[in-house]
Amino acid sequence: MGKILVTGGTGFIGSHTCVALINAGYQVVVMDNLCNSKVEAIARIEMITGKHLRFYRTDMRDKNGIRQIFEDNKIDAVIHFAGLKAVGESVEKPLEYYENNISGTLTVLEVMREFQCSILIFSSSATVYGSHNVVPYQEDMSTSATNPYGYTKVMIEQILRDVCLAQPKCSAVALRYFNPIGAHESGLLGENPNGIPNNLVPYVAQVAMGKLDCVRVFGNDYGTPDGTGVRDYIHVMDLAVGHVAALAYAVNHPGFEAINLGTGKGSSVLDVVHAYEKACGKKIPVKFVDRRAGDIATSYADVTKAKELLGWETVYDLEKMCADSWKFTLQNPNGL
Ligand code: NAD
Ligand code: UFG
Repeated sequence: MGKILVTGGTGFIGSHTCVALINAGYQVVVMDNLCNSKVEAIARIEMITGKHLRFYRTDMRDKNGIRQIFEDNKIDAVIHFAGLKAVGESVEKPLEYYENNISGTLTVLEVMREFQCSILIFSSSATVYGSHNVVPYQEDMSTSATNPYGYTKVMIEQILRDVCLAQPKCSAVALRYFNPIGAHESGLLGENPNGIPNNLVPYVAQVAMGKLDCVRVFGNDYGTPDGTGVRDYIHVMDLAVGHVAALAYAVNHPGFEAINLGTGKGSSVLDVVHAYEKACGKKIPVKFVDRRAGDIATSYADVTKAKELLGWETVYDLEKMCADSWKFTLQNPNGL
């Protein structure tokens, strides 16, 4: 077990996972079409690790392009991050989301079958718990979604279950991420969204930089301790190490598993703002506005399964997540 293909490997979570994989001794091949990331991420991974990695600018829907990667490299396993991920955009452009995320995944799976590569780790999301389950979310709860992006995750999990039934040698682990934030502690890699950020922490970072005026807090009348939404924020390097643990598990365990990757702890919007104020040493202005459509009050993980199956748990707290995000933002004011 040595060579890993990382689809979406120049993106936020993929690039950090490349660092964790290389640190664990794997060889990494990255594939990305760069629709939401920069090739500079490759140079940053190489700077952090001191190791060279091979990069293919390829679209995951291009079957011959993916075949070429498998012909050039003996790929032992695939970690599959590539996909479009903006919830609001998926409501506006459902066909683009289904086409990119589902067709792209089917193409990757078809080529894996052709080359008898039987191990896949997939980026799923806590969004598959929908709005009907009660926290803490456990992996055996029923899944659903409230938007096309979420449905791509529900559907791809089902596709992987079915593939594992049909091909008993296959291992597929769907990792259900909670809210990944933070950055590599070197400040060389981090989250780099295009335009005005949708997610809380990148937005707070831009307010701290003086690029945006104030954080709009979407609702302070939820049934939570301070009335603002509660989420399970996880440091992206903890998440990255979770993929290395999932890979080790998958090698010896054929079949499909869904596993939560979170801290098991909820933090409110105001907790995040206060932790960020501490990290950057500035006051961050907030304004309370209406709830955002589609948001739920509270989301956090039951992390028992990850501990039991993967022997993995998080080590970083919210303060460290904000400190690393701030370091990356200061060092890269215009992104990568
Ligand atoms: P990201 O946008 O930074 O990374 C995804 C990468 O996939 C990008 O580099 C993009 O260029 C690439 N990509 C998209 N379509 C492609 C295609 N057709 N061919 C090749 N490359 C393509 O996002 P991220 O935050 O790193 O997320 C990685 C994965 O984790 C995604 O599947 C996302 O849905 C999932 N996820 C993310 C979060 C989160 O909050 N960031 C939460 C849960 C799940
Ligand atoms: N929020 C604000 N103001 C903002 C942005 C967010 O108050 O400007 C609040 C939201 O209402 C929510 C919390 O901050 O209570 C976190 O919001 P994010 O947009 O950062 O994250 P979400 O939990 O809404 O969603 C994220 C990803 C989804 C993924 C989900 C679960 O964007 O793709 O986590 O993994 F599905």
